[in-house]
Amino acid sequence: MKLLITGGAGFIGSNFIHYWLKKYPEDKIVNLDVLTYAGNLENLKDVENNANYQFVKGDICDADLVNNLVKDVDLIVHFAAESHVDRSVIDSSDFIRTNVEGTRVLLDAAKINGTRFHHISTDEVFGSLNSGDAASNENSIYKPRSPYSASKAASDHLVCAYFHTHNLPITISNCSNNYGPYQFPEKVIPLFITNLLEGKKVPVYGEGKNIRDWIHVDDHNAGVEAIIKKGKIGETYCLGGNNQTANIDLTKMILNLMGKGEEMLEFVKDRPGHDLRYDLDYSKAKNELDWEPKIKLADGLKDTIAWYEKNQDWWKEIKSGEYRKYYEKQYGVA
Ligand code: NAD
Ligand code: TYD
Repeated sequence: MKLLITGGAGFIGSNFIHYWLKKYPEDKIVNLDVLTYAGNLENLKDVENNANYQFVKGDICDADLVNNLVKDVDLIVHFAAESHVDRSVIDSSDFIRTNVEGTRVLLDAAKINGTRFHHISTDEVFGSLNSGDAASNENSIYKPRSPYSASKAASDHLVCAYFHTHNLPITISNCSNNYGPYQFPEKVIPLFITNLLEGKKVPVYGEGKNIRDWIHVDDHNAGVEAIIKKGKIGETYCLGGNNQTANIDLTKMILNLMGKGEEMLEFVKDRPGHDLRYDLDYSKAKNELDWEPKIKLADGLKDTIAWYEKNQDWWKEIKSGEYRKYYEKQYGVA
C-alpha cells in the first residue's frame, strides 16, 4: 500500500510515520509537509534513508502538486494543520487557509481518483463541556468556540460533504489532547517540561481549573490504524484518552515527577474564550474497532519527561529560534 501523509513533519504525523513504517515495513510513505514553524525534519532523521519513505516539501493548498502526488496513492492520511489555539487567537488567517482550503484541495484531488481519505480531527469541534455534562461522542452537536476549532469543524464538514455528495471513501477521527515525543514546546505538556528543565516557571492560565482529556500519541495512532484497517466508510470515530485532568493537577503531576516544588508554578492571564472542559466517549471505537487507549497518564508523562530530558538539543534548537518571539509576546518573558 502507498500512503500520502500530510503534515508528517509535525508532532502526531511524525509519530505516525514511525509507527506505520515499523508495523508495515513493506508499505510506501510519501510525506507532504511545507515545514511551517511546527514542521521539523529532525523528527524523521531515523527514516530519511528508508527506501520506502519519501519527503516532499510543499503546501497542501498547491493543487498542481497535490493532484500529482495523489495520482498513485491508495490512502491519504491528513494530519497537516495549524494546530495551536493560542496562535489562532492572535491571527486566524493561516488556520482558515491550511485547515479549510488545504483540506478542500486534498479532497478534490482524492475525488479525481476516488482515493480513500482519513481525516484527523479534534474533540475541540464539540466545544466546551460544563462539569456535569456527558462526554462528547460521534452524535454530539458541533459547537466550536476558538478560531482553531472552528477551522477544524469546517474541515470535518467538508470531508463529510465529499462523502455524501461525491461518494468519496472517507473516515474521520476526533481525538483528545495528545502528548508524547516530538511535540512542539508551545503546547502545555512539552512547554512545562522544557521550562522546568531550563529552570523557568510554568505559566498556568487562569486558575488552572480547565480540564483536558489526555491521550498518548501512540494510542492515538493505534486508533487511526484501527480505523484505516477496520473502520466503516463514511463514519466518524471518537478517540478518547480516558485521562480527564484539570490543568492544575496535570501541572502538579509534572512538578512532582520532575522533583520540583510548587514555587515553580505561576498563574498567568487566562486565554480568551478558554474552553472549560473536553471529554470524549470512545465506546464506538471500542465496540466496533476493538480499540481503546492503553497508556495511563502517569506512565506516559514519565516516559515523555524522559524523552525531553534525553533530547535537549531537539527542543533547545526550537526554543532558541523564531519561537522565542512568540513566547515573549505570549508570556512577557524570554
Ligand atoms: P503540528 O502543529 O505539530 O504539525 C502540523 C504539521 O503540518 C507541521 O509539520 C506543519 O509544517 C504542517 N503544515 C502546516 N500547514 C501546512 C500546509 N499548508 N501544507 C503542508 N503542511 C503543512 O500538529 P499536530 O499536533 O501534530 O496535529 C496534527 C493533526 O492532529 C492536526 O490536524 C490537528 O488538528 C490534529 N489533532 C491534534 C491534537 C493535539 O493534541 N496535538 C489533538 C487532536 C487532533
Ligand atoms: P494546549 O496544550 O495549548 O492545548 P489545547 O488548547 O488545544 O487544549 O493547552 C492545554 C491546556 O493547558 C489548555 O486548557 C490551556 C492550558 N495552558 C496553560 O495553562 N498554560 C500554557 O502555557 C499553555 C500553552 C496552555
